[in-house]
Amino acid sequence: MTANSDLSILFVCLGNICRSPLAEAVFRTKAHQAGIPVSVDSAGIISYHAGKRPDPRTLAIGEENGYSFENSYARQVATTDFTKYDHIFAMDKDNLEALQSLQPDSSDAQLGLFLSVLQDSDLAEVPDPYYGGIEGFQHILQLIEQAADAFIEQLKSRE
Ligand code: 4NP
Repeated sequence: MTANSDLSILFVCLGNICRSPLAEAVFRTKAHQAGIPVSVDSAGIISYHAGKRPDPRTLAIGEENGYSFENSYARQVATTDFTKYDHIFAMDKDNLEALQSLQPDSSDAQLGLFLSVLQDSDLAEVPDPYYGGIEGFQHILQLIEQAADAFIEQLKSRE
């Protein structure tokens, strides 16, 4: 838990410009609508895009669907994230492996694939849409919204 004791969640993808900023924006909005106090952020495995705004396709698809990216700038995962966040959700298996190799022994953060919250589903990964077209971004929005809804239901049942 963070200092203010809200549940804290970090979403992680490779570059922090396509998938994880979208997951951050979707989850923040849905948690707020559900009345669940959370602290949400996102980060990337690589530093290549650090300081950049989300990909224009993430902004377009997200904003069309009512999500806000006001303070969204890419950053790389930091060692301190592993003690700051309760849950660190990876978008794909490569991201998860990278996170597992970075996690310090002192960290209690729960690492997992974001889509693992979807019970009765074979889906494991939010696919990397970077080199594809806008339809890939529509697809990842659907997956992210489903997973966000499912995780929020799980959090509600813990209350
Ligand atoms: P993301 O997408 O991991 O969802 O932000 C990507 C962004 C950039 C690159 C790959 C994936 N890249 O190779 O630069």
